[in-house]
Amino acid sequence: TTVEWEAESYDMGGHDTYMHKEIHEQADAVDRALRGRIDDRFSTVHLGGLNLDARDARAVRRVKILGCGTSYHAGQIGAQMIEELARIPADAEPASEFRYRNPVVDPDTLYIAVSQSGETYDVLAAVQELKRKGARVLGLVNVVGSAIARETDGGIYVHAGPEVCVVSTKCFTNMVVSFGLLALHLGRTRDLSVADGKRIIEGLRKLPGQIEEILANEAQIEELAKEYAEAKSMMFIGRVRGYPVAREASLKLKEVSYIHAEAYPASELKHGPLALIEPAMPTVAIVPNDELLEKNRAALEEIKARSGRILAVAHQEQEKADHTIVVPKNEDELDAILMGIPLQLFAYYTAKAMGRDIDKPRNLAKSVTVE
Ligand code: G6P
Repeated sequence: TTVEWEAESYDMGGHDTYMHKEIHEQADAVDRALRGRIDDRFSTVHLGGLNLDARDARAVRRVKILGCGTSYHAGQIGAQMIEELARIPADAEPASEFRYRNPVVDPDTLYIAVSQSGETYDVLAAVQELKRKGARVLGLVNVVGSAIARETDGGIYVHAGPEVCVVSTKCFTNMVVSFGLLALHLGRTRDLSVADGKRIIEGLRKLPGQIEEILANEAQIEELAKEYAEAKSMMFIGRVRGYPVAREASLKLKEVSYIHAEAYPASELKHGPLALIEPAMPTVAIVPNDELLEKNRAALEEIKARSGRILAVAHQEQEKADHTIVVPKNEDELDAILMGIPLQLFAYYTAKAMGRDIDKPRNLAKSVTVE
């Protein structure tokens, strides 16, 4: 029965916190997000609840993604995936800002509201304002039947399962995977080739196994977290696909450890934040093996030249970094899904080393259903 299922899913199962449990549920969660959706025959995906036929999909001229907190960061990665795979201009904005600036609502834009709970007031208010102005709004939501799921024209359930810890981990990952599915779907109604569609599907299928590989490296991450927990402040950097990953990782660290952290595009370092670099201000760098690898390495060199300590999350050991957490390589367009996962564990172990209340950080709530 439902009651039993719920009792079981809220069980701690040997984990000390829900955050730890939920981080470890990610391979299964991603598997659920993919299940029944892949169409190998046409190298695309079926998203049953989208309510967007091929003609509607072709008519979309822009995509605007709205969310708050971690969901906003998932939306930033989603916007990049949609631009890359479907070549539709896309961007993400905090729903809380959008609703207060009398936005220009355009009938050819597809709006997407992202929310774990489906109840965040700022996101719901943005949806209602958009609906009032005649826009088409989809939801990318975890909780089935929630307010945002009900008020949108259709959407995608991310199927992360119940998330109890105040800070979002597995739901973030499933949101990003769901955006990957949507980007593939939109891409295949446009100019994404069968071969590229196939390549992305293969990449998506590799994710659960690669997540297990990352989690198997937990002992290294725990050691590193203990070392870096002494820092008063940390810098997180990344470029293009890596930048929203850096932002989310910095948010995660702030939320659970209360260590001050800033995220910057690596390309912007020289325009200001480089002034902060010194041995007491470590940098966490997202360094994927993609077309920007050399650029990212140059940024690491600049930091080293100012005696900054560097922890890299990369696809291979980084010579300029003091430490590297190596993550498995996927397709370039999907790498952002995996690169933040070790940094969830990093935030968790940092907070643990500091004795923080990990599942219920001070001043925060799981969902903010008021103004
Ligand atoms: C709160 C939580 C965040 C979450 C945000 C959006 O601020 O503390 O962890 O990302 O709300 O929540 P939602 O349920 O809309 O994804």
